[in-house]
Amino acid sequence: MKPSVLVTVLFVLTLLLAACGSGEDAQATEAQLAQGKALYEANCASCHGLAGEGQPNWKIPDANGVYPAPPHDNTGHTWHHPDEVLLQVMAQGTGMPKSGMPTFQGVLTREEMEAILAYIKTFWGEEERAFQKQVTDQWKEQNQ
Ligand code: HEC
Repeated sequence: MKPSVLVTVLFVLTLLLAACGSGEDAQATEAQLAQGKALYEANCASCHGLAGEGQPNWKIPDANGVYPAPPHDNTGHTWHHPDEVLLQVMAQGTGMPKSGMPTFQGVLTREEMEAILAYIKTFWGEEERAFQKQVTDQWKEQNQ
């Protein structure tokens, strides 16, 4: 199985297993974005980049089979996933074998993770935001 297919399969599994969350998508407030930016820069930017640019050659695993951190901007695939899946990944990790992604359950609160997600969305263009909102709405219809 190609790694990209494996990632997709793992995300679909995550999506199926994801707990029913609230996932309300009120417009992010300035305060939430400021909180998200500070938390992103403290907890995520060292790997995913200050502007969400990710690490170089992020599709190629190293000699130990560990993948570099993918971008969160338009060039990555963060915007392909619904809110609840992204929050789940932040809390529990990606589920990839030999994952380089830490888990933040018990480190960040749900509210803090939502603020980070709101901030990550500022890396996206209008089309990516619209697409991701559609995916999020679909997820909610199917899971709530
Ligand atoms: C130590 C490096 C590191 C840190 C710090 C880190 N990540 Fe990751 N992250 C990764 C790697 C590597 C992956 C790729 C998948 C894997 O190896 O499991 C990943 C994957 C992801 C994914 C899934 C891929 C995608 O774009 O949908 C999300 C979402 C994510 N990280 C969000 C975050 C957030 C939010 C933070 C901060 C709260 C964070 N990460 C902190 C290394 C890191």
